[in-house]
Amino acid sequence: MDQYAVFGNPVKHSRSPWIHAQFAAQTGAELEYGAREVELAQFEQQVLAFFANGGAGLNITVPFKERAHDLAQVLSDVARVAGAVNTLYQDARGQLVGDNTDGIGMLRDILQNGGVLRQRRLLVVGAGGAVRGVLPNLLAEQPAELLILNRTADRASALADRFRDLGSVRGGGYDLLTNASAAPAFDWIINGTSVGLSGGLPPLPTNVVSPATWGYDMVYGPGQTAFQQWCINNGAERALDGLGMLVEQAAEAFYLWRGVRPETAPVIAALRHALAAVD
Ligand code: ATR
Repeated sequence: MDQYAVFGNPVKHSRSPWIHAQFAAQTGAELEYGAREVELAQFEQQVLAFFANGGAGLNITVPFKERAHDLAQVLSDVARVAGAVNTLYQDARGQLVGDNTDGIGMLRDILQNGGVLRQRRLLVVGAGGAVRGVLPNLLAEQPAELLILNRTADRASALADRFRDLGSVRGGGYDLLTNASAAPAFDWIINGTSVGLSGGLPPLPTNVVSPATWGYDMVYGPGQTAFQQWCINNGAERALDGLGMLVEQAAEAFYLWRGVRPETAPVIAALRHALAAVD
């Protein structure tokens, strides 16, 4: 039976084993997908041992995505540009291939919800690993403008520099908004910070929201996240959470490994239902 797993630390709350079990059932695939909490010092060794023992594919989560990028022998374009890998497998020659499906997962979720990024003004909040992983796909949609804001301004400007060749991208601290002369409202506000995990909000002024704004929170919870509520309360047209992205990035990894694209809509609905039941 083909063996897959997600490696991370911590990893015990990962939904990936459940999601991949749904995909396997749906496509009639015989596979096992586990979650392994890997000690920080052991990551490279455990990845290599997993594939040496016949493992078919890995997902990589926090805090190992950059190390997975460094370990891979072959990188997809997106993984190379992002500097982070969330999916590993071996090619026909036995080389370790690293890809990153986070950005395509987010994009699919946005498109399936009827969202449009092309020629739109995007505000991305946060400049950590989560944001870095999705920027190549966001910029490939050719937004009119992409502004990255972060508490630590240097991280945002460094990220903007890294992606400058891919489009109109700027980065800095939250004060960039106060100093900006252009229209304050954005078509999209994407929250890639971790403040929501402790119930907080990124420190944005409310005038970045207009009735045409769509919010996107890269995290999710049983109900609406604090950031989704903030968007809606300030008049945004819609606000999505990261649950669809989670399922879509998993589906894309499943496709890379097995050449079969599972249906995501029923899995998103089932996960939404399961989360609400726990609430
Ligand atoms: P991840 O891999 O999940 O992106 P990360 O690299 O630690 O994790 O990034 C977390 C992001 O949330 C960063 O943009 C961080 O801002 P800093 O770069 O200034 O640390 C942001 N963040 C975390 N807590 C925050 C807070 N209380 N207020 C504002 N931003 C916060």
